[in-house]
Amino acid sequence: MTPTATPKRIAVIPGDGIGKEVIPEAVKVVQAAVAHAGTKLEITNLDWGADRFLRDGTTLPADAPEMFRRDFDAILLGAMGDPRVPSNQHAADILLGLRFKLDLYVNVRPCVLLDPRLTPLRDRTERDINFVVFRENTEGSYVGMGGIFKKGTPDEIALQEDVNTYKGVERILRYAFEYARSNKLTKLCMSDKSNALAFGHDLWQRLFKKMRTEYPEIQSSHQFIDNLLMQIIRDPSQFQVIVTCNMFGDIASDVGAQIAGGLGLAPSGNIHPGQVSMFEPVHGSAPTIAGKNEANPMGSALTGAMMLDYLGLPDAAKRIEAAVRSALKEGKTTPDLGGSLSTRECGDWLANFLAK
Ligand code: NAD
Ligand code: IPM
Ligand code: MN
Repeated sequence: MTPTATPKRIAVIPGDGIGKEVIPEAVKVVQAAVAHAGTKLEITNLDWGADRFLRDGTTLPADAPEMFRRDFDAILLGAMGDPRVPSNQHAADILLGLRFKLDLYVNVRPCVLLDPRLTPLRDRTERDINFVVFRENTEGSYVGMGGIFKKGTPDEIALQEDVNTYKGVERILRYAFEYARSNKLTKLCMSDKSNALAFGHDLWQRLFKKMRTEYPEIQSSHQFIDNLLMQIIRDPSQFQVIVTCNMFGDIASDVGAQIAGGLGLAPSGNIHPGQVSMFEPVHGSAPTIAGKNEANPMGSALTGAMMLDYLGLPDAAKRIEAAVRSALKEGKTTPDLGGSLSTRECGDWLANFLAK
């Protein structure tokens, strides 16, 4: 393998709960994978999360977006969320803040069955469950526009705006269609709720109908989100590329994760093509199992693989995926997948496999 001259500069934000356990394992795995490729990683750890927030109020420093753009090639993040912060303010500021302020408009969430024994769906094979959800990541009902009037009274009004812009919808649809084309995939499904959301999702409908004519080789279809989620479970082999709005993508990717083995295995990327991007497992901080050394680090390891692929190291990424497949085959897993390894033991197993 050809050594890559310039080190890759990675900011690591383990965050809260199991993020603090699985991310160090992912770093170990990623380091083992790139050592083999002769590439160096420069890792900078950032202690942002609930502990820091409760200590000194820090969430996302004002200069963070500029710092990431200037000093880093990628961000690896664990999870944000802690029962001691019921407002979830630090998570909104850091996680959503980075997605919005770095304009990471593509949230890529692959749902790939790596071992047939992992799916709860009857008689499904690896061939049947292999699709990717492209979730719009900078708009929708996540933008934090709205407010509460007369809070705590019987007259209370709570407004939460759902923002859909021409630019935002157009670019995520374009990304999904181009992904399908460049990967020679033939099926793309756009999902919305335009039967009820007559303004915002009408925009999705119009832009989708216009754009699909540019991709005649792709069988593009539409499903309402309620039907889509049902169809994913009924017959996941229908899907190769799914594109949808921010909130529906959040929900669809948890459903997709579960049919492919569970949240502990699911990776994701928050991407702005060509710019510093952020990679995180799909799961959250899982407070009930945090601190027990039992969380599955594979989703984070596969997230590390997505990050390496994005950084131009596809071979190292493929080796991580192969290591995870081997671990699954040999039952070297944490309890969520029926194994008896701890988080650290599972990370060590993957790193040792990669060092061979
Ligand atoms: P969660 O993903 O943390 O947990 C859901 C379920 O999956 C739990 O039963 C948990 O034990 C299990 N699980 C998740 N990851 C696992 C792993 N790696 N190994 C084994 N089991 C795993 O979702 P939740 O319980 O809805 O949320 C908990 C907190 O995390 C909340 O504060 C939420 O806001 C936050 N959250 C953060 C992110 C993120 O930062 N990207 C994502 C989702 C949820
Ligand atoms: C995710 C999470 C976040 C989201 C939460 C923590 C705000 O569920 O990354 O999937 O909804 O985007
Ligand atoms: Mn989610």
